[in-house]
Amino acid sequence: MNKNNSQKPEATDNRPILVITKYMGSKKPILDFIAQELEDLTQPGDVIVDLMAGTHTIGYAMKGRCRIIANDIQRFSLVIGETLLNYYPQPLFNGEAVSAFKKYYHLNMRHLSELFRMGINEEDSLLKKHADGNVSWSACKKHSEDYPHYGQLKHPTGWPEEYLVLFDKHRIKAFRALSKLSPYNLFSLYYPNTYLGIRQCAEVDSLRFAIDKLCDEWIPENEDLEYDAHGLRCLLLSSLISTLSRINPGPGHWAAFPKINENNYNYIMSQRRINLLDLFIKKLDRFEKELLIHHSDIKDHVVASDDYTVFMNDKKEYLRQAKVIYLDPPYSQGHYSRFYHLIETLVLYDYPEISHNGRYRTDRHQSPFSSKEKIAGAVGNVCEAAKEAGTILVISYSKGGIVPNDDAFLSILRKHYPAKKISVKRLSAIHSKMGQAERMQTKEYIFTCQP
Ligand SMILES: C[S@@+](CC[C@H](N)C(=O)[O-])C[C@H]1O[C@@H](n2cnc3c(N)ncnc32)[C@H](O)[C@@H]1O
Repeated sequence: MNKNNSQKPEATDNRPILVITKYMGSKKPILDFIAQELEDLTQPGDVIVDLMAGTHTIGYAMKGRCRIIANDIQRFSLVIGETLLNYYPQPLFNGEAVSAFKKYYHLNMRHLSELFRMGINEEDSLLKKHADGNVSWSACKKHSEDYPHYGQLKHPTGWPEEYLVLFDKHRIKAFRALSKLSPYNLFSLYYPNTYLGIRQCAEVDSLRFAIDKLCDEWIPENEDLEYDAHGLRCLLLSSLISTLSRINPGPGHWAAFPKINENNYNYIMSQRRINLLDLFIKKLDRFEKELLIHHSDIKDHVVASDDYTVFMNDKKEYLRQAKVIYLDPPYSQGHYSRFYHLIETLVLYDYPEISHNGRYRTDRHQSPFSSKEKIAGAVGNVCEAAKEAGTILVISYSKGGIVPNDDAFLSILRKHYPAKKISVKRLSAIHSKMGQAERMQTKEYIFTCQP
């Protein structure tokens, strides 16, 4: 089994893997363990419901064998799922499409370079001094902390009023109300000097603008080229998610950004220097190649973005058709909506209200699977729905989660299934503790419940 955490194309036991972003609880390190169980329980052509699909590791690995019905409450997951399960990159994103995309990108970028000129110039000069070995870590820290952003009670001093007015809440309200108002500048207002630099924020905004313009205007005007606007939009957004994941100076999520200090400033400055347009195009190119190699003959995979109870209620027919319902719930108290708020906002691009140092969306979803009081009821809901549908339920879980071990998890399941209908498999695995230096040894479980 490959336990390398890098984002290179790879496959385990010939099962394809395509990592769009690092993800807490991704099944990549234990893909063979889970996929083998799903293969043992299904025949080619059977339906698998992946109820909390995250980055769609399982769907991508299984899509050539089974029809995947995937769901997850986060909208970025839907974008990744449509890319990995359904998009076939023909025609490739090249030629006229790339030229049009770059034209849109530069249009927004020119606008932002003018609006945010003071900040971008200050950052450029700091990066240059840093490259020349001419700047102290405390100067980098000061630059980072003395820059304005939306949501501050009091803006830092030293910026002229006409600059600060850019970050004013009334201006942001206008962008929120008028969706797709130009220029796109959400990241430039919300996140400069946090998870990315000031110029990089403008680059993200401009890439996001180019994605919308290309898919909403250019593709419909150039129908003869036969691009699938929805599929291409998802691929472009996935590439941008992946770009953000690559330049994130944090440990693979966006729950907090590192404050600049003596030890990390060289690293943070080097991350801030990365040109996002180039990185984005490289990622896109690689994803297209991978998707061409691992395309699936099964064409009608489904990707949804609902709360699991809503999905189970509205899509009962899928639960009945499925051979297996696979549940891979959160297992810690950390909510995915907090850890991955940045890519959720990237996809929604809706100028949300934010709070806390990490600048999280205030409308974050709180999962019952991350609550000690609620998890038994939440697991119970899935058990009852699977039984009613007459479908096998497979659950993966980790030792040391909210439910601490396999015995405790079994006692939840036994309230819904007789003991003889439940089987357990165990695997010792290496588990990445995102944000902490060490990787811990843990146990992974699969519980299989027959209806
Ligand atoms: C352990 S992760 C899944 C990881 C995934 N199998 C992978 O390999 O990337 C758990 C997922 O549950 C989703 N989730 C949490 N609460 C949910 C809910 N109420 N409804 C639907 N999805 C939910 C999270 O957004 C997260 O993506």
